[in-house]
Amino acid sequence: MEFALLTYPGLHFFLKWLHVFFGLLWIGHLYYFNFTQGAFMAQADAATKSQATQKLVPIALWWFRWGAMWTFVTGLLMLHTAGYVGFSLQGDWGVKILTGGIFGILMWFNVWFIIWPHQKVIIQSATQVAGGGQPIPDVPARAARALVASRTNTLFSIPMLFYMLAGAHLPIQMDVANSTTYYIAFLILVGALEFNAIKGKLGPMATVKGVVSSGFALTAVVYLMMELIL
Ligand code: HEM
Repeated sequence: MEFALLTYPGLHFFLKWLHVFFGLLWIGHLYYFNFTQGAFMAQADAATKSQATQKLVPIALWWFRWGAMWTFVTGLLMLHTAGYVGFSLQGDWGVKILTGGIFGILMWFNVWFIIWPHQKVIIQSATQVAGGGQPIPDVPARAARALVASRTNTLFSIPMLFYMLAGAHLPIQMDVANSTTYYIAFLILVGALEFNAIKGKLGPMATVKGVVSSGFALTAVVYLMMELIL
């Protein structure tokens, strides 16, 4: 008797299960920050805000960033195990998964190298002020940068999920011989958006409605690029 989980397809499935578990943990917190906590902080008085920044935000950020890390790790492992279940990065599955994966990898980068470093300083400053000390002067600038990165991740999460799911579940007829042209166009588009995440402004991402509708629009643009170029 053979146990399904002890085969390569079983291992790939097991990783996928963990991947979706960690993905939920990560993106659930991302949406909590962007849809719920932001609106709460905008109404809260200074003392409540300080308490939340010192006691609530660090816990939420812990689950958030480790969710991101393990989603990323299990995703990379699946890029490897996929070869054993008949998927190839050179085929149509690869184009769809790499499209979703590039969004996901940029999001992981934004969590660990932009949002978390700035948030650490914001939490440190709130703790200092609560202890009678001075605030750290560049906190408003750091909060603004972390917000643009966080909103960009919310923007990316919408096409990211579309392409993660499309990989195995949306058959798209494509001529992968043109994939270089597609990847160049796609990387220019996401590169510009990621540049904006690092240096730019909120623009339409300033509101929840704006960022969600932009996410659907971005999904449509990438989908059309894929259908028309490939
Ligand atoms: C961080 C970078 C990421 C990488 C490198 C990555 C990679 C992958 C790969 C290789 C698969 C292959 C599944 C298959 O077709 O057999 C996959 C599936 C999946 N990923 Fe990701 N992923 C990432 C982020 C995310 C995030 C943030 C989510 C959010 C929940 C997510 C959700 C999913 C889901 C739901 C599937 C299953 C799709 C199916 O049913 O086939 N991924 N991912």
